[in-house]
Parts: sequence; structure tokens; C-alpha cells
Amino acid sequence: MKAYIKLIIPLLVLLVFGLAGCSGDNKATNVGELHFKNSLRIPQLLQPTISSDGTKHFKLTMQSGTTKFLPGKLTKTWGLNGSYLGPTIRVSRGDHVAFDVVNHLDVASTLHWHGMKLPAVMDGGPHQMIEAGETWSPHWTIDQPAASVWYHPHVMGKTAQHVYRGLAGMFIIDDQDSKKLPSNYGVDDFPLIVQDKKFTKDGQLSEKDGTTYGTLGNDILVNGTYDPFLKVTARTVRLRLLNASNARAYNFGFTDGRSFKLVANDAGLLEKPIKLKRITLSPGERAEIVVEFKPGEKTILHSYSSGGEIGNGDFDLLKLVAASKLTKSTPIASELSTVPSITVPKNAKVRQFKMTMEFNLNDKKMKMDRIDEVVPAGAKEIWEIDNFGSAHNFHIHDATFRILDINGEKPPKYESGRKDTVFIPNGATVRLAVEFANYADPNHPLMYHCHLLKHEDAGMMGQFLLVKPGTESEVSKKLPSSDMENQQNHMENGH
Ligand code: C2O
Ligand code: CU
Ligand code: CU
Repeated sequence: MKAYIKLIIPLLVLLVFGLAGCSGDNKATNVGELHFKNSLRIPQLLQPTISSDGTKHFKLTMQSGTTKFLPGKLTKTWGLNGSYLGPTIRVSRGDHVAFDVVNHLDVASTLHWHGMKLPAVMDGGPHQMIEAGETWSPHWTIDQPAASVWYHPHVMGKTAQHVYRGLAGMFIIDDQDSKKLPSNYGVDDFPLIVQDKKFTKDGQLSEKDGTTYGTLGNDILVNGTYDPFLKVTARTVRLRLLNASNARAYNFGFTDGRSFKLVANDAGLLEKPIKLKRITLSPGERAEIVVEFKPGEKTILHSYSSGGEIGNGDFDLLKLVAASKLTKSTPIASELSTVPSITVPKNAKVRQFKMTMEFNLNDKKMKMDRIDEVVPAGAKEIWEIDNFGSAHNFHIHDATFRILDINGEKPPKYESGRKDTVFIPNGATVRLAVEFANYADPNHPLMYHCHLLKHEDAGMMGQFLLVKPGTESEVSKKLPSSDMENQQNHMENGH
């Protein structure tokens, strides 16, 4: 009897996992399932009210609702100023901006400005909680080069859920350089917010995050549109790609084999456009590309399997259909950014971060009251990330970096520009030349973390302070308990 059981159990295990694994692989695609029949939603540009001192005031309301993604089905979702995703915010370098972020959900959340340079207390990380029914009012001056940044919640342990349900949006910063590129929003300049979802039979968002990476779904939304097409009316189109997925990486390209010009990475424009056929983005990363069209052309923006865990699978993302008459645009300048490239001094401080299987960073999990690193404001340092686990990526708040090398080799061209998030392949060592923002605050920490949201929620995150240079050893590496901090935040917000 015992021998019989010993035999049958492995057989059963093999059968169950074998089949599950098999169907999983077969289904890592949506090719052939789409008809491209829904016009791509373009998130509205949020109009500010402008006060007498010129401050642009924006209002964002987090709310729940229902959204029609799939034919004949209504999906329960979250959004900002709407039922899914949020409006696009567009400002210029030098603008002073102020936000009222109203939480109409029945749970607490936060709103983080991913890629923004600002005082830590305005960052919207896990310490700037917005309780249900309350309003958070951050404000700062936009002081960084043009970039496509974005916003999303950053609640300790809940970020994956809040983003997955729909809280995210694009935040465009313009400057003199960026205006040389197509900039007519919704005409020749489009955000493309790409997310994968798993729907239940009745069309609800499945929150079963089946894999060690979190949710990997086979249904793709672009700007919250399922099965989308975009009618192109200009010869030259700028696409701001944002991977706002929980875990999936996309390897973008066009099915007719056309090339495009990469003009910006996460944190700003390249010095010169780079001609490419593929670009890979892991969660949190952005890229701006410029694509040329001839009248009547059709092509599909596709994600080509890049293998390796989160990049597995082939997905049609968006059909682009050029009109029979296209408006002319000015040719793309050969010199884009005039911002000097990021360099670190020879004796730059080197900090090392180890990523391991247990979703740890340097053998620790995130703790809200522990400061892991103290960095002089405005410092230029080398951060070295060693990945001993599975696929991860790495994002630093209030910083811009350039990839120095990956396993000792120069990074691929498509990620050679200014960045704030980087894919860290399984087993790789990635070295970054990091330039930190020039805002000092010894009391409010900033984050660095894996941007695979399940990993971030599981504690693969650390906290650093940006402090006045020379005061690094004077600051406390222990924060007041979160209760006290909440009270303090409430007081700062005038409650
Ligand atoms: Cu996009 Cu710390 O986050
Ligand atoms: Cu961020
Ligand atoms: Cu990770």
C-alpha cells in the first residue's frame, strides 16, 4: 500500500503541474484573439486653475467605478477623476504646481510621482498616506528636464492591488528641447499606458497573482482600452510608452518590421535619436519613440517574447491605421537634449545592493521606521545591484541615473539614456551612475525598490534620506513609529 502511494503521488504532482505549466505556456499570447475594434482612449489633459502667483492647481480624485473593457461586461475598477486610470498632467519646467489629491475610496492610499524631483515630503511614498475621505495637498516647483513621468499609489503592502485596479496616470514635463518633437497631445503625441490583466469569466479583474512575479495576464489594455486601434493623422507621431503593469516586461516592435526612433528614456531626452526596431521596458520604465507613417499604412505595435520569466509571450498591443491624408510634421532634430550627461567623480561613493530569492534587499525587508542609507543631497554615486534571485528591476526615487554596465558590458543602446528604473536580469550585476536630487530633508525618507509590485509589497524595498552634505552622520536612522508619523502628517496637512 505504502509503495503504491509513493508511486502515485509523484505521478499526480507531475500530471497537475505538468498540465498547468503547459497550458500556462500555450496561453502566454493574445495573437489571433483581437479585432482592433475599440478606438484607443486618450486620457484627458487635466486643466489646472491658475492662481495669481502663477501656481497651477490640479485636482485628482481617487474613486471606484465600473469600466467597460470587454464586450457586454462591466468591470469594477478604480481610477482618478474617472473609473479607470487618471488624466494626463502636462506642465513645463519652471512651473509651480499644487495638487489636491482627494481620496474617495473607502481605504487609505497614496499618490507617488514616479520620476519627479521634489522634496521628500511631497513624494507620495508610503509615509504620505491619504486616509479614506481625506485630501493631500503637495506642491513643488518643476525643476528637471523634459520627461514622461507618471503617478501611482505607493501603499506599503498594497501597491500591486491599487495599481492593478486602475490607479495610475501620465505626467508630462516639457522644456525647450522637448518641444522640438511632435507635441500636439492626442494628435501627434500620445501616451500609451500598457498593462496586462487577468479577467474572470464574468469580466472582473482577477487578483490571484499566480506567479512569484505577481500577476501576469494575457489580456492587454492600452490606456485602459481592450482590443484597441489608433487612427493616425500625422506623418510623424510621438508615442510615450509607459509600462504600468504589475510584473510583465514588453519588448516593443512593429509587425511590419519598421524601425522607429528612440528619443527619450525614463528621465528625459537622449542627446540624439537612436534608430531601433525593438525596445524592452520592465514595469515602471518609460520610453518615447517617434514613428513615421505613410498615408494608408497599417501596422501593429507588438510585444515580442524576450524570454526569461516576465518577458515571456507574444502580444498584439495596438493597431495603428494611417489616414489617406496625413499632416506634415517638422523633421526630427538630430540634436535633442542639451542636458549634460550624468557623470560620477573618480572617487565616487559606491553602494552595493543584493537582491535575493526571498525578496530581500541586502538581506533585509523594508521597514517603515528604518533608514537604510543616508545620501548627501545632490550627490553623484555609483550604485551596484547584484541579482542573486530571479528577474527583478530597480527604481530610485528623487534620482536620475545612467547605466554604467551590465555584467561589465555597456548597456544596450535602448537603455543608454537618462533613467530612474532599470531591469536587472537574473544573475546580473548592474552598475548605475546616479545623480540625486538637491532636496535635503533629514526626517522624510525616499525609497528604492524592485518595481515588480508584488516584490515591492513583499518588502524588496529600502529607505534613504537625502541630507545636507556633511550632516550624514548626524541624522537618526530610526524614524518615529508610523502612528506618530501619521499624526504628524495630518498636522502638516492642516487636519
Ligand atoms: Cu513607481 Cu517607488 O515607484
Ligand atoms: Cu518612484
Ligand atoms: Cu523583484
